Amino acid sequence: MKQLKTPILTAWDNPLTHAIGSNQSSAFVTPEVMNVPSATAFSGEPPLEKIASLAPINPDDKRIVNASTDINQLAPFKYPWAWEFFLNANKNHWTPLDINMAQDVYDYHHKLTVEERHVYENVLAYLTTSDILAMRNIGLAVMEKMTAPELQIYQARQVYEEALHTWTYQHCIETIGLDQGDIYNRYRVVPEIYGKIRLANQRLSNVLTSDLDLTNRDNLEEFAMSYLFFAAVFEGCWFYNGFSPIFALQRRGLMKGSAEQLQYIMRDEVMHCAFGLRVVRQLLLEEKLTLDPKALQTMWEESDAAEEAYAGYILRDPILGYNAEDHHGQFRYIANRRARQLNLTEPFPGATLRLDWLDEQASMRKEKNFFETRVTEYQTGAALSW
Ligand SMILES: [Fe+2]
Ligand SMILES: [Fe+2]
Repeated sequence: MKQLKTPILTAWDNPLTHAIGSNQSSAFVTPEVMNVPSATAFSGEPPLEKIASLAPINPDDKRIVNASTDINQLAPFKYPWAWEFFLNANKNHWTPLDINMAQDVYDYHHKLTVEERHVYENVLAYLTTSDILAMRNIGLAVMEKMTAPELQIYQARQVYEEALHTWTYQHCIETIGLDQGDIYNRYRVVPEIYGKIRLANQRLSNVLTSDLDLTNRDNLEEFAMSYLFFAAVFEGCWFYNGFSPIFALQRRGLMKGSAEQLQYIMRDEVMHCAFGLRVVRQLLLEEKLTLDPKALQTMWEESDAAEEAYAGYILRDPILGYNAEDHHGQFRYIANRRARQLNLTEPFPGATLRLDWLDEQASMRKEKNFFETRVTEYQTGAALSW
């Protein structure tokens, strides 16, 4: 029998109607799709007057994980710092379309050397794959296990930011005119990139299940190690340090649009790292959990080896003002900082600062006239405190 189709009446019902054309099938719905539950669908619930009133929630009963209290109540806060993170995150608004990329197109095709193009492409290739992993980690593995809404709300914002970062890399890749099939497959065909992705995938797959019982101490330790890895290594070192090769180009007046995009991303990542470390510290405290020092040192050393191989690949030929030894040395220096933030032993004693300009880059303080685009107007909060 021929099915009748009912046109949707307003663009508000389907905002993409205009974009995809009114003849697309998605602009129509069948009568079956339009069926909504009748009022009787809820008839099994007791009448309102039969529901006993519930006791108020004591905020002290909230926990990072394993809380038995109702988790639908925002305030009073048990973790007011988590709410502050959310408020601060909302001061960093931009989209990649706000940043002028015209000079980057010229720089890439006419000014960069072969070695510099190799660095630029592979850094983007690594970052774009990494941000998808970061999004899946926080959105699918971490957020659902939190048992206080103020934590989940910041993490919801973080999920959005990771998606925005992926859009940003995509915008750079498309604007410059790089081959998408080539760039997005680099992590699969270049072992030195895959080494880092593989470590993150292993950590993620250990906890990427909604029925992980965190009252089990082994599971809890696995979860804590995974969250710690993502906050301290993946975001706190690999991302924090991962933009540096392109910042090195920026410092020589090259690829300044891409670098500006990355500075906005870095600002988010600094907060993701700080928030994650704070959650992990609180988790260890509440759960009276002490992580195995050997397992921690193994994590740092595996991450170090992967980073060293990665640096050796992207900087197989050094570029002016940047080389693999500085990149790797800086990883160790930042890794020590992350360990101290967690009250843990430094994994690489004696590691020294290699990129003395990186922290300034992270805090968005720039040389004069760096910002020439309207994106500065979005900086509603000039001074984020990390
Ligand atoms: Fe990100
Ligand atoms: Fe992140």
